[in-house]
Amino acid sequence: MPTSNGGSADVGLIGLAVMGQNLVLNLADSGYSVAVYNRTTATTTAFAAEVDPSQDVRPAETIDSFVASLAKPRRIILLVQAGAAVDAVIEELLPHLDRGDVVIDGGNSLHVDTATRHDRLHAQGILYVGAGVSGGEEGARHGPAIMPGGSAEAWPLVADMLQDISAKAGATGQDPCCSWIGPGGSGHYVKMIHNGIEYGDMQVLAEAVSLLAGLGRTSAEMAETFAIWNQGRLASYLVEITAQILAVTDDDGSPLIDSILDAAGQKGTGRWTVVSAMELGQPMLLVAEAVGARMLSAMVDVRAAASEVLAGPDDPLRTGLIEADVEDAVDGAKLISYAQGFMVLAEASDQYGWDLDLSSIVKIWRGGCIIRAAFLDDIVVALDRDPAQRNLLLDPFFSEALAAAEGGLRRTVVAAASAGVAVPAMASALSFYDGIRAARGSAALIQAQRDCFGAHTYERTDRPRGEWYHTDWIGSGGTARSGSYTA
Ligand code: 2AM
Repeated sequence: MPTSNGGSADVGLIGLAVMGQNLVLNLADSGYSVAVYNRTTATTTAFAAEVDPSQDVRPAETIDSFVASLAKPRRIILLVQAGAAVDAVIEELLPHLDRGDVVIDGGNSLHVDTATRHDRLHAQGILYVGAGVSGGEEGARHGPAIMPGGSAEAWPLVADMLQDISAKAGATGQDPCCSWIGPGGSGHYVKMIHNGIEYGDMQVLAEAVSLLAGLGRTSAEMAETFAIWNQGRLASYLVEITAQILAVTDDDGSPLIDSILDAAGQKGTGRWTVVSAMELGQPMLLVAEAVGARMLSAMVDVRAAASEVLAGPDDPLRTGLIEADVEDAVDGAKLISYAQGFMVLAEASDQYGWDLDLSSIVKIWRGGCIIRAAFLDDIVVALDRDPAQRNLLLDPFFSEALAAAEGGLRRTVVAAASAGVAVPAMASALSFYDGIRAARGSAALIQAQRDCFGAHTYERTDRPRGEWYHTDWIGSGGTARSGSYTA
């Protein structure tokens, strides 16, 4: 709850696009007085005119009057377009700020930009917080998931406020979906990974719909199937809205989904996730497939042309495939995707020195955000059981759930491949699963090839790790194996 500030506003917010407006109303609902400013004053005026008079929202036409209206230390939330706009607003603000003031970027900034801005403002005594905010318009209005990171000194100054406006989850429904993430750009990083996982979940559900359609289900029938799935282990926001979406009809009574162009948009957080995972040496491959699938979907003309010339099977989906298999495929692919995502978070935490608490990150995601789902409670249990666990697939909940889902996932991928239906996320998940459970994989040949053409050396199964051998593969005439130790 806000404290009395003797007439000054508790908090200021810059950027009155949809997210900004909704967050202002959320803050005001929670009892905070909010000063608002937007580059285009007409937007500020129009917004202020519509606000319910019971809400303490104070429009400012200039940055000077905006800053002057705030209680100290000032708390200023930015919700402007990611990129240059954030820097432009910071430039405008800086001359008016005092040491100890807090600037919170609640937009979708790239985490390295946040780290740079943090360092710059920190040098001037300004506390900088990069807060990932998830939940879209509805979440911003009634309770988003919030992932704040940056200046740790800022946390006591903003914790109550951010937790007041965040979603609530957990057994009591009272745990705020907002806790401190860590230093630098870690808050925006965790939000980015959240978005990447969201891309994966959406792709898996899109594949499930195309498979069920291939099995002859109508949209109305699929809406029912998804509603049933939403009562079980797949219970989640995305499954819930998929059920609702599939039930919507166009003016002529046909399913609206059938009239939507199948070219997916993206704003970049999925791509950033995959790039970061690759840089960290982590195979977050289901999300990579999801990002790639959106790219391929956008190539509408190429696909139209290719559909005329590229051959494929005429067979319908195998009749042996049943809906329960597809449900297992969704479940199994999601389990694998989340395990991949947490491998990335664990590695980022190590490499960037963030000391991330993975369990509290999952707790944040249980409410308000797009990937909220019942099974996040199981991930919390898994992470709390063994906080040092870097691979969730080794946890008993994951290994047992995958043992149950594996057969259905496998049958689904086989059926899709036989019928020529693209299921890149499900197929990638299955390959990862089979790859990770193979104590001996196929990479021996790759090491031999690398040693053959580039003398990159290899380790041997019958020698300790860290001993490196080189063979003159071609010169040996295909018979001699004169391994040499190169330590
Ligand atoms: P506007 O209404 O003046 O366009 C999302 O686009 C939000 O970011 C809007 O509130 C928009 O303000 C703001 N925004 C975009 N670019 C900006 C910039 N360079 N400086 C300040 N605000 C900006």
